[in-house]
Amino acid sequence: MTITIDKTVALSTTALSCTYDTGGTPIHALRSVDLTIRRGSFTAIMGPSGSGKTTLMHCAAGLQKPTSGSVHLGDSEVTALDEKSLARLRRVAIGFVFQSFNLLPALTVIENVELPVRLEGIRPDRAATERLLARVGLGERTSHRPPQLSGGQQQRVAIARALIAEPAVVFADEPTGALDLRSAREVLTLLRELADAGQTIIMVTHDPAAAAYSDEVLFLADGRIVDRLPDPTSRDVAVRMSALLDQAERANATGVAL
Ligand SMILES: Nc1ncnc2c1ncn2[C@@H]1O[C@H](COP(=O)(O)OP(=O)(O)OP(=O)(O)O)[C@@H](O)[C@H]1O
Ligand SMILES: [Mg+2]
Repeated sequence: MTITIDKTVALSTTALSCTYDTGGTPIHALRSVDLTIRRGSFTAIMGPSGSGKTTLMHCAAGLQKPTSGSVHLGDSEVTALDEKSLARLRRVAIGFVFQSFNLLPALTVIENVELPVRLEGIRPDRAATERLLARVGLGERTSHRPPQLSGGQQQRVAIARALIAEPAVVFADEPTGALDLRSAREVLTLLRELADAGQTIIMVTHDPAAAAYSDEVLFLADGRIVDRLPDPTSRDVAVRMSALLDQAERANATGVAL
């Protein structure tokens, strides 16, 4: 049998499940999630708190081992790799942006962005880093330190750092969660531009206005994908989310799973 790899698919999960066993009742954070993410698309993941969004991102990005099921990133089966190959895949093929930026305050902007390359033992290409910083709108700020920047600027540094190895997929877990409206808009516009230029972006958000920048919203509830909304408007997303939150509240009140 020949296995053909669909080059238009950036990431896929098959029957991806993750159960946390903490001694008491096991928590089913993901229940058999099947997902296909197109190359160059911008996907938003939404759902009530505790629905499994972060677990899905971490399993998809190889930061966490699922209990069962598989993840494919390009032609690599993430879930079949040993620790060493996985660490390498994470460095070269995956970018991760956190809500809290995670920048080092003592390093300059350019040093923060180059850090992952230096940790690889490679001398960074300074001109390429400067081009990248110009692309995220920080060409004039390369020698500043993070505390001298606005939240939106710091998050754009974090995005540049996630892009330095030219990863196939960039994951962002609530990248605008700590930002004011204007800074959030800057970051979302940048993520949109990156997707339009061919990068694959997967973003968790609680904000319907942020989700409206994406090509498609996936709604998670109780560890399952329960709905998808292509070409979302913030109004449609807000209506769908509000229904999901009501459902989650009712399920909590009655102890019945969704
Ligand atoms: N390390 C862990 N150990 C035990 N349970 C966990 C762990 N991490 C997450 N969970 C549980 O798994 C479920 C899914 O958690 P997850 O963090 O993926 O949700 P989320 O959708 O990202 O929520 P939020 O919107 O609050 O960030 C929750 O019930 C959570 O309490
Ligand atoms: Mg989360």
